[in-house]
Amino acid sequence: MQLFETTGEMRDASRGWRHESRRIGFVPTMGALHEGHLSLVRVAKARCDVVAASIFVNPTQFGPNEDFSKYPRTFDRDRELLEKEGVDVVFAPAVAVMYPAGAITYVTVESLSEQLCGKSRPGHFRGVTTVVSKLFNIVEPDVAFFGQKDAAQVAIIRRMVRDLNIPVEIAVCPIVREADGLAMSSRNAYLDPQQRKAALALHHSLQEVQQAFASGERNAHRLVEIGRQTFTQEPSVRLDYLEIVDRESLHPLEKIEGPALVAVAAFVGTTRLIDNFVLLGDSVSHPRNTG
Ligand code: PAJ
Repeated sequence: MQLFETTGEMRDASRGWRHESRRIGFVPTMGALHEGHLSLVRVAKARCDVVAASIFVNPTQFGPNEDFSKYPRTFDRDRELLEKEGVDVVFAPAVAVMYPAGAITYVTVESLSEQLCGKSRPGHFRGVTTVVSKLFNIVEPDVAFFGQKDAAQVAIIRRMVRDLNIPVEIAVCPIVREADGLAMSSRNAYLDPQQRKAALALHHSLQEVQQAFASGERNAHRLVEIGRQTFTQEPSVRLDYLEIVDRESLHPLEKIEGPALVAVAAFVGTTRLIDNFVLLGDSVSHPRNTG
């Protein structure tokens, strides 16, 4: 496995692969890798001839009072994990490589970026779309792999790729969970044992919505109310939002008729966690079944 820190090295490798007509898979990450990230790598390995993964804690997607400086950085371990999975190249640029002094250009997917996490994290999605488009320009992949865990991120990146004619296929992989249902996240490392238990409120709230839907409830407001009740029983967890939205536009729905995204975000102590699942018309499906 090769490690590149400059855009030139990464681009040269990618151009070489393209010259050999190899299908290039790309898995962008911020490191602190867990099974969720590795699941993307495995799908990329299965679907592509060569796989590049990036590790870059992207400052522009963190707000001024967020956890950029304390975000877990476990580079040596990450590198070992990626090597074991058979990744061909790790691209791990420094901040100054990705954002040279004077960089003032951003990519914004308007309107969508103000929904869900965009409401409570202004500028977050602009940082994501900016860094992801830069990474696409450097790596030039055929297929890029993202997790359904960040469902709004997926909708926004899909829209960006469509609107800007970026020649990359976006592949989405199911949410990987801990045995008790907690969605895996690099931020779970912040939780103490008590918070770790309380964090299950997110998953439980989604299960409540899922059950009510399965029993026939189709009114989105009532489903949201049912999900919210879980949080009244877990006062140590502060709900940020629980919404039922269209999967593509991310606009709130009144009634569930077609596929709908149920998304939740909540603070456990100072740690902000997210989770979601997809309601599929008249049946219910976890993202793992929806592709
Ligand atoms: P990061 O949070 O490191 O996640 C990298 C990728 O792993 C994302 O596509 C995310 O959805 C996926 N992922 C995280 N947890 C997962 C889980 N439990 N199951 C399945 N997939 C999971 O998302 C980012 O980084 C950044 O915003 C990035 C796209 C790299 C841009 O900086």
